[in-house]
Amino acid sequence: MVGSPAMLRGVSASQPDVDPRRYRDVLGRFVTGVTVITSAVETPQGIQPWGTTVNAFTSVSLEPPLVLICVGRARSIHPVIDRAQRFAVNILAEESQGLSDCFAGAPSPLPRSAFCGASYALSASGLPILDAAVAHLECTVEKTLDAGDHTIYLARVIGLGLSEVHPLPLLYYRGRYLRIERAATAELLGKPDSRYPEG
Ligand SMILES: Cc1cc2nc3c(=O)[nH]c(=O)nc-3n(C[C@H](O)[C@H](O)[C@H](O)COP(=O)(O)O)c2cc1C
Repeated sequence: MVGSPAMLRGVSASQPDVDPRRYRDVLGRFVTGVTVITSAVETPQGIQPWGTTVNAFTSVSLEPPLVLICVGRARSIHPVIDRAQRFAVNILAEESQGLSDCFAGAPSPLPRSAFCGASYALSASGLPILDAAVAHLECTVEKTLDAGDHTIYLARVIGLGLSEVHPLPLLYYRGRYLRIERAATAELLGKPDSRYPEG
């Protein structure tokens, strides 16, 4: 049902100005995983891997398999993706907070210029896959959309993998890292959906 103007006023929907601080605070209530988007540039010295921490990642379509990421235009990975037209999404394991900080350019003992000292392997499509990922997707860019100060990269999944050694992902909430508690989980009571079978 569409809300009346009075109802909309109640949720501040009609306010023309969104306070940036409050906007961040509200977005911070949405818990996400943490990914490092990696790509590679060819240099005279060989293939140079590069990565940036991103939580604006979502699945879009199953058939065909499409995902999207939102990358700030000022980010160092932006021209790298534009050139390569491909990237990998590395979903970080919970013990990878240090890598997340380093790939976000935060003060870190790890050397960002040396790919944060991260162990990785190049996939068949030439993308750096981090050993510290619980899972990864290899993607080729299908469309780009200018969106404010960010670019939305809509990309087709051309490869994927699950880690045998890292079962649990790192979480991000209100500007802090979190871990999944190893408590018994409540049963899922949502409407059954054949796209998400048990397990
Ligand atoms: C947990 C976390 C999530 C982030 N998510 C995004 C994102 O979705 N998109 C983005 O453009 N930057 C994101 N950032 C910021 C960039 O990782 C960081 O500012 C960037 O790496 C610094 O710019 P540089 O790569 O040019 O050094 C995130 C940072 C953190 C710590």
